[in-house]
Amino acid sequence: MMLQTAGLSKNFGGLQAVAGVSLTVRERTVHSVIGPNGAGKTTLFNLITGSIKPASGTVKFLDQDVTHWLPNRLAEVGLVRTFQRTSIFRRLTAIENVALAIRSRRKLNYAIRMSRGEEQEIRDEAAALLRQVGLRDRENVTGGNLAHGYQRALDIAIGLALRPKLLLMDEPLAGMSRGDRQGIADLVLKLREELGLTLVVVEHDIGMVMRLSDVITVMQNGRVIAEGPPDAIRENPDVKRAYLHGSFAA
Ligand SMILES: Nc1ncnc2c1ncn2[C@@H]1O[C@H](COP(=O)(O)OP(=O)(O)OP(=O)(O)O)[C@@H](O)[C@H]1O
Ligand SMILES: [Mg+2]
Repeated sequence: MMLQTAGLSKNFGGLQAVAGVSLTVRERTVHSVIGPNGAGKTTLFNLITGSIKPASGTVKFLDQDVTHWLPNRLAEVGLVRTFQRTSIFRRLTAIENVALAIRSRRKLNYAIRMSRGEEQEIRDEAAALLRQVGLRDRENVTGGNLAHGYQRALDIAIGLALRPKLLLMDEPLAGMSRGDRQGIADLVLKLREELGLTLVVVEHDIGMVMRLSDVITVMQNGRVIAEGPPDAIRENPDVKRAYLHGSFAA
């Protein structure tokens, strides 16, 4: 199994942000996690990717127990995330942003002198990744000057630079125009088809979630209230109820 959590829990004081979540993600699937604001989706991501520690429960990645591993170590074995807010360096160009991620994968930094050959190798790899996410023509634009949709694509290229097997994306479509959203959605499907990636996606755009996902897990108040393929989730009465006060226009 690609990813399996069992009884994963985290509380902030008296608040049960994630309460006994058992999630199973199969290889080569697009698996979405949805739920109203405050449901615990980002906290679940933080637990899986090691940026916070669970109060209880376990995380298994490719059948290895990785509970309590730190983010860098998880990235080394192929478990990588993108953030709800972008993690790009605004003053570096797109290609410099990706090159930095490649160097971090190779554990090189600016203090270490690199041969020209190595520099060129990294640049070529960065350029190839930018091509893959549709940023070929924007290599030399600084992160801060990229349009929002392109910043999200750059985020994805940075994630890909770490050579993930599983990529977790927190709201990759947030704040994007309709057209840009479709572009990122197409990219997600392309990554699964062409690279065989497994993707876990937190997203509020329910229409897009329905179109993209093989499996949808619905959270509310830190718990899983439903799980299944898009058609079943669309008709699920508990899900409809959970979204009563929000928008569930699928
Ligand atoms: N560091 C923290 N300290 C205290 N409470 C927190 C912390 N992080 C999250 N919470 C609380 O935990 C609950 C779950 O938050 P979380 O960010 O996981 O929700 P979410 O499902 O990602 O919401 P959204 O859709 O708005 O991003 C919320 O009530 C939130 O206020
Ligand atoms: Mg969130």
